[in-house]
Amino acid sequence: MVVFQTSTPFSSHHKSTSFFFVFLCVAALGSVFLVWQRNVINGFFVLGGGVPVWESPKLRPVVFDLIDFGGVGDGVTLNTKAFESAISVISKFGNKGGAQLNVPPGLWLTSPFNLTSHITLFLAQDAVILGIQDENYWPLMPALPSYGYGREHPGPRYSSLIHGQNLTDVVITGHNGTINGQGLTWWTKYRQKLLNHTRGPLVQIMWSTDIVISNITLRDSPFWTLHPYDCKNVTIKNVTILAPVYHAPNTDGIDPDSCEDMLIEDCYISVGDDAIAIKSGWDQYGIAYGKPSKNIVIRNLVVRSNVSAGISIGSEMSGGVSNVTIENILVWESRRAIRIKTAPGRGGYVRQIAYRNLTFNNVRVGIVIKTDYNEHPDAGYDPKALPILRDISFTHIRGEGVRVPVRIEGSEEIPIRNVTFQDMNVGITYKKKHIFQCAFVDGQVIGTIFPKPCENFDQYNEQRELVKHAMSQNVTDIDYEI
Ligand SMILES: *[C@@H]1O[C@H](CO)[C@@H](O)[C@H](O)[C@H]1NC(C)=O
Ligand SMILES: *[C@@H]1O[C@H](CO)[C@@H](O)[C@H](O)[C@H]1NC(C)=O
Ligand SMILES: *[C@@H]1O[C@H](CO)[C@@H](O)[C@H](O)[C@H]1NC(C)=O
Ligand SMILES: *[C@@H]1O[C@H](CO)[C@@H](O)[C@H](O)[C@H]1NC(C)=O
Ligand SMILES: *[C@@H]1O[C@H](CO)[C@@H](O)[C@H](O)[C@H]1NC(C)=O
Ligand SMILES: *[C@@H]1O[C@H](CO)[C@@H](O)[C@H](O)[C@H]1NC(C)=O
Ligand SMILES: *[C@@H]1O[C@H](CO)[C@@H](O)[C@H](O)[C@H]1NC(C)=O
Ligand SMILES: *[C@@H]1O[C@H](CO)[C@@H](O)[C@H](O)[C@H]1NC(C)=O
Ligand SMILES: *[C@@H]1O[C@H](CO)[C@@H](O)[C@H](O)[C@H]1NC(C)=O
Ligand SMILES: *[C@@H]1O[C@H](CO)[C@@H](O)[C@H](O)[C@H]1NC(C)=O
Ligand SMILES: *[C@@H]1O[C@H](CO)[C@@H](O)[C@H](O)[C@H]1NC(C)=O
Ligand SMILES: *[C@@H]1O[C@H](CO)[C@@H](O)[C@H](O)[C@H]1NC(C)=O
Repeated sequence: MVVFQTSTPFSSHHKSTSFFFVFLCVAALGSVFLVWQRNVINGFFVLGGGVPVWESPKLRPVVFDLIDFGGVGDGVTLNTKAFESAISVISKFGNKGGAQLNVPPGLWLTSPFNLTSHITLFLAQDAVILGIQDENYWPLMPALPSYGYGREHPGPRYSSLIHGQNLTDVVITGHNGTINGQGLTWWTKYRQKLLNHTRGPLVQIMWSTDIVISNITLRDSPFWTLHPYDCKNVTIKNVTILAPVYHAPNTDGIDPDSCEDMLIEDCYISVGDDAIAIKSGWDQYGIAYGKPSKNIVIRNLVVRSNVSAGISIGSEMSGGVSNVTIENILVWESRRAIRIKTAPGRGGYVRQIAYRNLTFNNVRVGIVIKTDYNEHPDAGYDPKALPILRDISFTHIRGEGVRVPVRIEGSEEIPIRNVTFQDMNVGITYKKKHIFQCAFVDGQVIGTIFPKPCENFDQYNEQRELVKHAMSQNVTDIDYEI
């Protein structure tokens, strides 16, 4: 019982606390080996540092049910208090291996709430957590330090629906239950300019370690969907992320932001902006914060982005992005497949990026690198803070129905260095003009690729013998008319 005697204030709703929690404690321990436990999450270990790898299952010693905290899954009753009470109780189990909160089938309307460490939030099949559509219920919090401003408005920003700060060992999983942000009202108000603050993400975990998000569906976020910020050791696996493919502004799927040791795999993402966008802060604020995104593996995904790109890096990359592997990705019915975007003022770097086994199916532009993405937080950015882009490789690239397979546009200020192409064969839809477009880029092509590369690259045969030197690395052959 001692475990519940803390200073944490409970709402008036739960005045009869001691009796209530004695009951809960007994109920929880009693349910340890019951049906839910069969489905609890696995643990991990790490091979040689870096990407998390599966280990044997790790079970939480206690399990609670949202209903025990007064939850009502009718889609109308607000369950914020139920979530907060449950999480407050679970926060007392930290030194005992944590606890699991089951969200049973039903529609669980809630306003934003904060997670705690050592929690497993488990969404049953047909469990849907619904975000309340009235922004007055969404607390404001300070802008992210590496962005300086809210992303859309100066000053504070709305919280995420599910939020966490300074946590460790958090699992959000289930039998494909859903977290639904009901973003439509937010998107409409945003377009009508009725919002005074930056919209909140659906799930945002900040300054945290050892995070697992798996086996669930996330949909219709007001803003970015899943935003791990300055976190370490994050796994996102077998997650479906959905939003309408247009008229759902800024509904990025996953935004790894100043994160390290991250694995994203086996996901399906179809959203109204980038499916994935790796970031690390914005201009002078991101440079000052100085936290890169690094050691990230993204693999086995199917992604779709009608208005933006499948997998992006930037445009906010001022803390740097390095050591990223992106492989076995199918991008379909999208405006762009792969994009790196930056601008003078960003500073930072993008380097050691390997793309392997990408398939583009009906996309307008396959591979894009853009160095004039001139969107700045305020006039205080330093235009002389030039990002470094280098050591980027593309291997085994396939596709059909691609209009412009490659558009790599460096500039005199921001030349792109050491780009490698090997084993590319992309079916094109437009044959009149040169559709492998380059400017201020150098690097090499190994073996024969289709379409024929621009003159900026050195050409080697399969035995790595130089066949032809680049004509000029500065040749500019970019045509936005296509
Ligand atoms: C996902 O669910 C499957 C089937 O229940 C289970 O075997 C697997 O361990 C779960 N994976 C994760 C990462 O939660
Ligand atoms: C969650 O925690 C943050 C940081 O302490 C705070 O700003 C925010 O208001 C909290 N959200 C809720 C719903 O309590
Ligand atoms: C989490 O840590 C950051 C700095 O690391 C601090 O600014 C923030 O206030 C902390 N948040 C909470 C809720 O303790
Ligand atoms: C993915 O999650 C679904 C339910 O969400 C589960 O049935 C399936 O087994 C999972 N797949 C893997 C590979 O874990
Ligand atoms: C999970 O639910 C989503 C949305 O309903 C669905 O598209 C997806 O196929 C489901 N995933 C699995 C593994 O059943
Ligand atoms: C935005 O600010 C205006 C003027 O201060 C105010 O009338 C309006 O209610 C605010 N809107 C929201 C959604 O907070
Ligand atoms: C990464 O997180 C997982 C899941 O919480 C944990 O099992 C593993 O020990 C962590 N890895 C490291 C290196 O801390
Ligand atoms: C690059 O990232 C991978 C995967 O996270 C990791 O195993 C490797 O050690 C990292 N390499 C360096 C040089 O940090
Ligand atoms: C390439 O990626 C596709 C998925 O897009 C996958 O089916 C295929 O097995 C991968 N090939 C290799 C050699 O890994
Ligand atoms: C985006 O969606 C619109 C409307 O459905 C469609 O006409 C257009 O072709 C789509 N664009 C791409 C790149 O798939
Ligand atoms: C060019 O990039 C590749 C990785 O794509 C790296 O292995 C190689 O060392 C780089 N070369 C130079 C000269 O930096
Ligand atoms: C190419 O541009 C770089 C600056 O990006 C410059 O240093 C170099 O002299 C130029 N080379 C030629 C041949 O014009």
